[in-house]
Amino acid sequence: MTHQKLRSSEWFAAPGKTGVGHRTWLNIQGYPDDSFEGRPVIGICNTASDLNPCNAHLTDLAHDVERGVLQAGGLPLTFPAMSLGEPLMRPTAMLYRNLMSMEVEESIRANPLDGVILLGGCDKTTPALLMGAASVDLPSILITGGPMLNGKYRGRDIGSGTDVWRFSEAVRAGEMTEAEFRSTEACMARSAGHCMTMGTASTMACLTEVLGMQMPGSSAIPAADSRRRKSAWLAGRRIVEMVTEGLRPSTIVTRESFENAIVANAALGGSTNAIVHLLAIAGRLGVGLELDDFEDVARDIPLIANIQPSGKFLMEDFFYAGGLMATLSEVDDRLHLDATNVAGTTLGDEIAAAEVHDRDVIRSREDHDALPESTVVLRGNLSPSGAVLKRSAASPELLQHRGRAVVFDGLEDLDARIDDPDLEVDPDSVLVLRNCGPAGYPGMPEVGNMPLPAKLLAAGVTDMVRISDARMSGTAYGTVILHVAPEAAIGGPLGLVRDGDWISLDVDARTLSLEVSDAELETRRSAFTPPVDIPDRGYTRLYIQHVTQADSGADFDFLTGGSGPYVPKRGF
Ligand code: FES
Repeated sequence: MTHQKLRSSEWFAAPGKTGVGHRTWLNIQGYPDDSFEGRPVIGICNTASDLNPCNAHLTDLAHDVERGVLQAGGLPLTFPAMSLGEPLMRPTAMLYRNLMSMEVEESIRANPLDGVILLGGCDKTTPALLMGAASVDLPSILITGGPMLNGKYRGRDIGSGTDVWRFSEAVRAGEMTEAEFRSTEACMARSAGHCMTMGTASTMACLTEVLGMQMPGSSAIPAADSRRRKSAWLAGRRIVEMVTEGLRPSTIVTRESFENAIVANAALGGSTNAIVHLLAIAGRLGVGLELDDFEDVARDIPLIANIQPSGKFLMEDFFYAGGLMATLSEVDDRLHLDATNVAGTTLGDEIAAAEVHDRDVIRSREDHDALPESTVVLRGNLSPSGAVLKRSAASPELLQHRGRAVVFDGLEDLDARIDDPDLEVDPDSVLVLRNCGPAGYPGMPEVGNMPLPAKLLAAGVTDMVRISDARMSGTAYGTVILHVAPEAAIGGPLGLVRDGDWISLDVDARTLSLEVSDAELETRRSAFTPPVDIPDRGYTRLYIQHVTQADSGADFDFLTGGSGPYVPKRGF
């Protein structure tokens, strides 16, 4: 390829003062004069941040990528992007996913880049990077930081997130002391990396590989394993080739790729958050994908990976057992095996090369044909635009259930009353939490797995049906119905539920019903004022005014699609 064909040559090979202006300040960093002559310029978008511990090690991987890019004859230029630290950000990291995606998109488009390596890991960073890159559509590879090593506590393995919820309930039930709970902290996060359960980070890492946007075989490599660094190095070499080939996300990620990701999510017992993120990414690429596809495409796909929170093991075990491609070998008849990836191979090639090394961790499909789907889509008069339930993390005895609603009008109301000894609630009650959707909270926080009332925990109750317009952490579990759309705060039926109403759930029939007549609902609706409070200024105002509902990916309505890489105007 000649440098005239490179996008970066519009900057660096420009005549006169324009070219000088673009090149001269780069001398500050000591680049030899021939650095820009026909060399693909590779942006390395680094989300390392001390405010996002799961991504804090990504600068090491950036250096490995740089080596690979240089070896292949490219010029690596690293730049930062906003980093969304799930454990620290308030009100919720999800509020900023779209903002980060905008920053990534505009940072790539505005600069003289021919290809991009995207470094992410913690939950929202991976989808935000993919959304931004998809809207520019330059050759791109995403590298996730890898899961932490297994947590170790008093002789047993513990999982990030999942065991936080377990221990928290144990404390509230009087089975664990606060001091013991505190002592688990360092045991749970003992290496670099993201959560090592099949939470949202691990799920999105795996699904990014299935979509074809992460180097094959790399998504489950532990952060502390040197093979991750080698994979990053190879990705650095490969992105230079991709620029020469003109291989772009829109070529790799197709409707078939998304169907593969949906199948993989079911086989992995992946996070419900993946639904929202995949819908948003598909929207950026102009691929037709709907909530019902998650029901139709994944139907009868059994749970193969025995990983927390749906199973027993952790990501380190998963990698040693054969990892993602070995898991997919169990459902390969449901996959589009000719789907391609950033490495230029096909999904079928990668699956054919995979082996299962531990049948306790990656189970045989023959042994589990009877297992139900991991995630289901529920509809009914309570969720006309859909809701989701992670069946694999729910209690089988609650999948057909009828109970009276106990309604909480928001997180503050929940916090104030859930442990009230006088709360009118019994084990059959259905806990309803509303005003926690995309516009209502805003940002759709991970609070859908609301705590059980202390008095019921003390009585030995371990699960109840819970319904909300919120999300829940991919590491969480329970019979938790999420993403109810439309959300209460914009007038959805969830806002019309009253204490004592009967609610029925039938997972086999995929229904969620509020047993209140249409006439009564109409009466309630006419007296209802949606409680959305729009601030006078700032990002939150933009967010509330433009965020779409969960069944559309909770992206901004004005970000659907892409603007491409072309910038017709120059600054000087
Ligand atoms: Fe960052 Fe779980 S908190 S991946």
